[in-house]
Amino acid sequence: MKTKFITVNEGNAKLLVPEKAFSDPFHLPVFYNPAMGFNRKVSSLALKFCLPMLDDSTVVDGLCALGSRGILYAKENKLKRVYFVDANPDAIKVLKKNIKLNGLKNAKVAEEDLNKFFVNSSENFDFIEIDPFGSPVFFLQNAIRKLKKIGILSITATDLANLAGGKTIPTKKHYNAKPIRNEYSHEIALRILIGKIAKELALQDYGCQPLVSFYRGHAIKAMVLCERNSDLADKSLEEIGYIMHCEKCLNRKVSKRIIGKCDNCKNKFEYAGELWIGKMQKKGLLLEMEKDLEIKLRDKVQKKGDLLPSDLEILKFIKFLIAENDFGPTFYDLHVLAKKFSLVVRKTDDIMLSLKMQGFDSCKVHYVSTGIKTDAGIREMKRAMTNKK
Ligand SMILES: C[S@@+](CC[C@H](N)C(=O)[O-])C[C@H]1O[C@@H](n2cnc3c(N)ncnc32)[C@H](O)[C@@H]1O
Ligand SMILES: [Zn+2]
Repeated sequence: MKTKFITVNEGNAKLLVPEKAFSDPFHLPVFYNPAMGFNRKVSSLALKFCLPMLDDSTVVDGLCALGSRGILYAKENKLKRVYFVDANPDAIKVLKKNIKLNGLKNAKVAEEDLNKFFVNSSENFDFIEIDPFGSPVFFLQNAIRKLKKIGILSITATDLANLAGGKTIPTKKHYNAKPIRNEYSHEIALRILIGKIAKELALQDYGCQPLVSFYRGHAIKAMVLCERNSDLADKSLEEIGYIMHCEKCLNRKVSKRIIGKCDNCKNKFEYAGELWIGKMQKKGLLLEMEKDLEIKLRDKVQKKGDLLPSDLEILKFIKFLIAENDFGPTFYDLHVLAKKFSLVVRKTDDIMLSLKMQGFDSCKVHYVSTGIKTDAGIREMKRAMTNKK
């Protein structure tokens, strides 16, 4: 049956997309998922404030499908050139129409396998986007080979059934890491992805600095600054380690090595890793994104019919990322704690206040509405939940 296409607006981009994408985005001859608009909008805004870190603004939209990312990036940012690459000829046909529809003069199109594109390219790039079905790992080595001395990798992964679902064998195969399925497994997934990117970068003597990282819907996203410098590569590897988790008392620990027993209850620790144990955001960049959104919200109202999430929604999300960045890995899910220890769930704000009264900081998280990060340990957390000082 012939696919029916309609035109939609995503921010400043106009896109010809399959109408069926709004009911079933996963069985289309040309891929387009409206739910990923959030990821695209955050990435495009981040790119705006990443550009000053780069030598120039040549961008690769690696697995571009009908071009929704690259076109949005080009319409919202001043880019020298955008390379669109996809192996699907049907996608390339629609992509070309979309490039025309948006009047892009700086677009280059390659109907090619992405790895072949990188191998055959004589050019190196400032910013490389990889947005695959499933895992991005198959493209990392070739992408890194085509980065400039300083460049940015903007990587999405959707293989969360493995990474966050605790599927050990595929995760070990693709990421050389062991996942755990628990209440903060999406953060573990993100840290495994960044850890993998950092190790692949180190192989080619690049350091890795995460800029913006998040989980949303069925995807995790990491934008990292890469710099060819062997000292920086060595330093990045110091940020690789493990998260130890005790299923019995919910204690957790971040460590450079695997630890056998829980230091709270002596039960056997489970482990996740190797993974990234360092910061996952560049705070200054997020503050710039926050300010930009606040100014936009003051000055303009969202256009009608825009498929992208509102500036207010993104702003709230960015504020979570900023707050989380002051804390280390893992968070507590209040419902999980309450169930485990037969406690009544109090209001999150009240628990945060109880923590404050014990001398601990805390913040809500973007992963789940019932989660909080804190510098308190499990004992203090339980005390805060039962309101004892
Ligand atoms: C998840 S979709 C990309 C979505 C797109 N970035 C967006 O925002 O709408 C993955 C795309 O990768 C393409 N693809 C899969 N394997 C590829 C390969 N080895 N080389 C080039 N393109 C490939 C598919 O044709 C598909 O269009
Ligand atoms: Zn324990």
